[in-house]
Amino acid sequence: MYQVGCTAAKALAPTAGTRYSLAAMNVLGIETSCDETAAAVVNDRRERLSDLVLSQTALHAVYGGIVPEIAARAHLDHLDTLIARALGEARLGWADIAAVAATGGPGLIGGVIVGATMAKAIAVVREIPFLAINHLEGHALSARLSDDVAFPYLLLLVSGGHCQLLIVEGVGGYLRLGTTIDDAVGEAFDKTAKLLGLPYPGGPAIERAAASGDATRFALPRPLKGRPGCDFSFAGLKTAVRQLVEGAGSSPPTARDVADVAASFQAAVADVLVDRTTNAIAAFKRRYPDGAVLVTAGGVAANQALRDRLSDLARRHGLLLVAPPPRLCTDNAAMIAWAGVERLRLGLVDSLDFAPRPRWPLDPTARA
Ligand code: KG4
Ligand code: ZN
Repeated sequence: MYQVGCTAAKALAPTAGTRYSLAAMNVLGIETSCDETAAAVVNDRRERLSDLVLSQTALHAVYGGIVPEIAARAHLDHLDTLIARALGEARLGWADIAAVAATGGPGLIGGVIVGATMAKAIAVVREIPFLAINHLEGHALSARLSDDVAFPYLLLLVSGGHCQLLIVEGVGGYLRLGTTIDDAVGEAFDKTAKLLGLPYPGGPAIERAAASGDATRFALPRPLKGRPGCDFSFAGLKTAVRQLVEGAGSSPPTARDVADVAASFQAAVADVLVDRTTNAIAAFKRRYPDGAVLVTAGGVAANQALRDRLSDLARRHGLLLVAPPPRLCTDNAAMIAWAGVERLRLGLVDSLDFAPRPRWPLDPTARA
């Protein structure tokens, strides 16, 4: 606590070249829920004045996965300078910042505590509102920052920790139609990449390998495809890839094999996502016959092959697909700052008593 307060004080040093932006409401956003330390300034005109992301990938690579304690310490080491840089790049001083928003969960709790405590310290010192943002709400509202999408819309949220279909009815208003019953889709990408000897994060590596692969070479399962409802399952697909790779014997797979497995896996994932989203579109249309937009967000939504399939699906159902630019799909602080703008406009500020949450469902009425 003491240490975070000290680093906050360093971050509060005056910024050179201050530019006063007259009417815009600027919100500082902080994201520390996983292995990216991020800080950004966004205003209520949907301008990203700065948007900095510091990846810890290299730090965790030697361990073969994210080590929560190392992640939290790295956030602590870098967050103050990153915030100072975010203000500098935005060419704003502290007097221009209307509020500070930080991810309050869900995520790796050590990191969430670092970011939320830093934000609280800033809020106290600068006497500005503090906003605790649900990381998933950050992803969910990112399409309103990039494309000004109106409520309601259907959302396919696909990330490293989640895979859900939701109707977004408003800020704080989420109706969950389905979720994964085992692994998240990003996790399936990461584990498949590891099996193939590709680097972490697995999603971009699989996408690159798949570009030159034959998606028809391996017949991988499409779990839950054709079944009613909007839930997902990826465990069976992951197991099938493992059996495929292990069944190939002790010699390492050739580049062609890797490309073909990656392409076959990516096609299976896309088929499943399209199938489950088709059911969700029907549910969305029943509730909102005039509903016009399908949004996809979260790290996996950066995948172009997937975006193409979803765009085609949306068109066939008379909807428009909105997918924020890849940089806004993977973890970032601009989406947290933007969710802060949205909440601040509605007066939904948080108390300094807010306790960071390792788990925090968007739709609290949905079954676990
Ligand atoms: O949203 P995100 O940055 O962090 C979480 O909130 O989880 O998502 C990270 C996930 C990782 O599993 C990563 O492999 C995946 O998104 N990802 C991708 C791509 N870029 C990132 N998956 C498929 N294709 C991509 N291009
Ligand atoms: Zn995320």
